[in-house]
Amino acid sequence: MYSFDAVIVGGGLAGLRAAYELANNKIKTAVISKVYPIRSHSIAAQGGVNAPLNNIEREISDDWEKHAYDTIKGSDYLGDQDAIIKMCKEAANRIYEIEHWGCPFSRTNDGSISQRPFGGQGFPRTAYAADRTGHAMLHTLFEQIIRINEDNNCLTFFDEWFVTRLIVEDNSIRGLIALELKTGDLHAFKTDAVIIATGGAGRLYGKSTNALINTGTGMAIAYLAGVDLKDMEFIQFHPTTLYGTNILVTEGARGEGAYLLNKNGERFLSNYDDSKKSMEIAPRDIVSRNMIKEIKKGNAINGQYLLLDLRHIGKQAIMERLPGVVELAGKFAGINAITEQIPVEPGQHYTMGGIDTDADCRTKINGLYSAGEAACVSVHGANRLGGNSLLETIVFGAIAGENMVKYLSANKKSNNTEIFIETALKEEKGEISQIFERDGKENVFNLFEEMNNVLWNNVGIFRHETQLKEGLENLRGIKERSSNIGIRYKGKRFNFELYWLLELIGSIDIAETVIMGAIERKESRGSHYRNDYPKRDDENYLKHTIASYSPEGAKLSYKPVTLGFIEPAERKY
Ligand code: FUM
Repeated sequence: MYSFDAVIVGGGLAGLRAAYELANNKIKTAVISKVYPIRSHSIAAQGGVNAPLNNIEREISDDWEKHAYDTIKGSDYLGDQDAIIKMCKEAANRIYEIEHWGCPFSRTNDGSISQRPFGGQGFPRTAYAADRTGHAMLHTLFEQIIRINEDNNCLTFFDEWFVTRLIVEDNSIRGLIALELKTGDLHAFKTDAVIIATGGAGRLYGKSTNALINTGTGMAIAYLAGVDLKDMEFIQFHPTTLYGTNILVTEGARGEGAYLLNKNGERFLSNYDDSKKSMEIAPRDIVSRNMIKEIKKGNAINGQYLLLDLRHIGKQAIMERLPGVVELAGKFAGINAITEQIPVEPGQHYTMGGIDTDADCRTKINGLYSAGEAACVSVHGANRLGGNSLLETIVFGAIAGENMVKYLSANKKSNNTEIFIETALKEEKGEISQIFERDGKENVFNLFEEMNNVLWNNVGIFRHETQLKEGLENLRGIKERSSNIGIRYKGKRFNFELYWLLELIGSIDIAETVIMGAIERKESRGSHYRNDYPKRDDENYLKHTIASYSPEGAKLSYKPVTLGFIEPAERKY
């Protein structure tokens, strides 16, 4: 059995930022990640990270309050205002911190960090490193982790390990079980503090900008251990994903002035009331809906996609600020983005909901924390603003790490849990053996695809009770059939049939919370648009949806939104 003071599950920006705090305080910590940390999905974030740095000259200046106002309005008033204020007050400090660690941000002529406009924000607030901001930030942070670990050797990395269950006793975290993919062996970890920083659940959907690793199983292990999930019905659809592959084409392109065009070459967003003023930099929920409406009107190319036009930005600016877009358009669509328009369609991009935490990243289980996209600290509410997710990872990753340090120093180590942990390990081994023994006829990959189709077709950008209920029924059918999945390959090493089966089981539980939350929220708010209830209804639904696990399926309840800074108002752009 391994024994660590703390365990970090997830090696992306939020997990590593928490690891930095723990290592800095000389706490013996394991970092467990399904992939090598610098392959985490944080690497895929392109357009930038928000902070009111005021590096682009304007008549009025930006500050944390304006950033908080935009974020709250962007969230359609469902974000918790205490958490949003915390994030916006910390934003500049965290960006300067990572800059001083060496993050290669793009620069203004005077050498300051450059910033560009992003959707739903009144200022050019998004700091960027060309269009590879997540890549630059993750590598910078990882370098610091290596440096600090050379000094004090506190961190041990378990790369390509997959956590299958959390161990909780007397409402306190005691350990976890993880599968080493290379050997197929299950191992127990004893620990007093755990953070889940495993990212979102984008791969519930087939058409997604997310890496294949973003299945939501980090959320699922917390959920099964008794932690609630919050606001799961709020799924963000990004307007510009590359048609066909759904690779992200950054909002930074529209921030730099790119146009969205229909088949007649018109900037069609001017035809829709909610985007006629802000056009391409209206918030994502609005732009995505208007794109779908335009496609349905028959104004898409081949009835399928719209066009993103960068050409007027000019080769030099494009190559300086958007080189990744040029590269991906060339490699994956055979398009020269400097001289040709890019085919785009909306696709799933972000999970606003997640593990229910307070603004200190604490869950209701003592010693269990969560941060980043896996968590719902609730800074995004019903719709996240672009550039706030990278910010969330570094702000709340640090807060979670600091709080884990405090928790460990205030709480006596648990000494008598070995037998309890051994029993959990034995149970988990028994469950995996049973999976290998059964002679099921269903195929894991087919069922995964069926689940993806249910989510896309029934719980998409536009929703309706009939479709949602049909989706829930279909998902439950898939869940039932999943107990009849057979593992054809019986070897233990890198057994991806087993691995994907475990992923699927977790994803189905998460998908159920998304659909049930969507059925019960009989209003339209942010990314959750109900054709049958097209208006926001603050009287009945200005509240968080809470999903609690039960063996019969999710149980829903509600809890209040923390207000106090800005009163809810009509959301106009
Ligand atoms: O479009 C983008 O670059 C995405 C940024 C984000 O989701 O924050």
